[in-house]
Amino acid sequence: MKAIAVRRGETTPELVRKPRPDPGPGEALVRTLRVGVDGTDHEVLAGGHGSFPDGADHLVLGHEAVGVVVDPNGTDLEGGAVVTPTVRRPPDGENEYFARGEADMAPAGKYHERGISGAHGFMAEYFTSPADALVSVPDRLAEWGFLVEPISITEKAVEHARASRSAFEWSPESAMVLGNGSLGLLTLAMFRDDFDRLYCLGRRDRPDPTIELIEALEGTYVDSRETPVPAVADEYEGMDLVYEATGYAKHAFESVHALAPNGVAALLGVPEDWTFEVDGGGIHRELVLHNKALVGSVNSNARHFRRAVDTLTELPAWFVDDLVTGVHGVDEFERAFADDDTTIKTAVEFGTR
Ligand code: NAP
Ligand code: BGC
Ligand code: ZN
Repeated sequence: MKAIAVRRGETTPELVRKPRPDPGPGEALVRTLRVGVDGTDHEVLAGGHGSFPDGADHLVLGHEAVGVVVDPNGTDLEGGAVVTPTVRRPPDGENEYFARGEADMAPAGKYHERGISGAHGFMAEYFTSPADALVSVPDRLAEWGFLVEPISITEKAVEHARASRSAFEWSPESAMVLGNGSLGLLTLAMFRDDFDRLYCLGRRDRPDPTIELIEALEGTYVDSRETPVPAVADEYEGMDLVYEATGYAKHAFESVHALAPNGVAALLGVPEDWTFEVDGGGIHRELVLHNKALVGSVNSNARHFRRAVDTLTELPAWFVDDLVTGVHGVDEFERAFADDDTTIKTAVEFGTR
């Protein structure tokens, strides 16, 4: 079967051929429909994040997948069901995090991430998966099911941010998303009805398709070259919620100053090492004297995936159409990895229902 992989020492994806996998006990065989591409895939290709499976000379890419069950293999799944896989798998058999359905909270060493670290991904004509790591997607959403994984990332991050504010009466009215990439824009769309004031920060000139999407969602575009994050509170008043999706490491610290009293910033970016100066005293004082919180969040579990399916159902069709700028057949997969200002969200298509 065809698969898209990166070889050790390379930074661009290539088409490889591999045998079709056989499902083991408790696993189903899935025929892949579409696999999305995000900033993490680009970080994996660049060598800044992730790792190859032990002993393998390549890593099959892809962690945002949707497919159709073709062999339930004795599991509870039905043949023909549309499913999306969660990303983490236990490296050496079950461990306590997986046993309680919280693989997203597992520390390093207790998980692999398919298509990212230590395990081949889903960018292939077929993949196998434990049945309990496959979440059902309604048939009518089959084309867009690859968006469930990134939506689930925000379901989790917001759940954790809210939990950090659950000890008091918190009624957030304003939110700023840092980053106008695919994760930032999906998150902005998820926030569209929940906040009176909604902002999204980028670093692009107009005309730009991401700025058009921000404004179509009735958000305010903030250019970080004119209003850097530390100036946000003076320019727009402090934010109750900041969602960092730039991967720009200074934003983790600067977002403390963009928060309103009692606000919380959720940090999602996965930056490389970068040493720089910060006013540690000022950050520490702001967090303490204004009851602010910083919450890091990674990955998501099946519960977040199920909630994400509902969220996807409610996203306006025009938004999904504009967000997904390209769905490319496997023979022109390179186009799905384009990294330019006209590309927002792409997917590789392996088949149709
Ligand atoms: P992406 O497409 O690369 O988006 C990042 C966006 O941030 C880009 O649009 C970029 O603008 C913008 N940006 C970067 N630095 C900026 C700055 N200084 N000021 C203003 N805008 C800036 O990536 P993505 O897929 O949306 O993901 C975002 C980040 O979240 C990545 O670091 C990714 O690894 C991470 N992530 C984490 C999780 C998790 O579980 N924690 C899940 C998914 C993704 P330009 O395009 O104009 O350069
Ligand atoms: C994926 C997550 C993963 C994270 C860190 C993200 O792009 O969506 O599932 O945990 O990268 O590798
Ligand atoms: Zn991702």
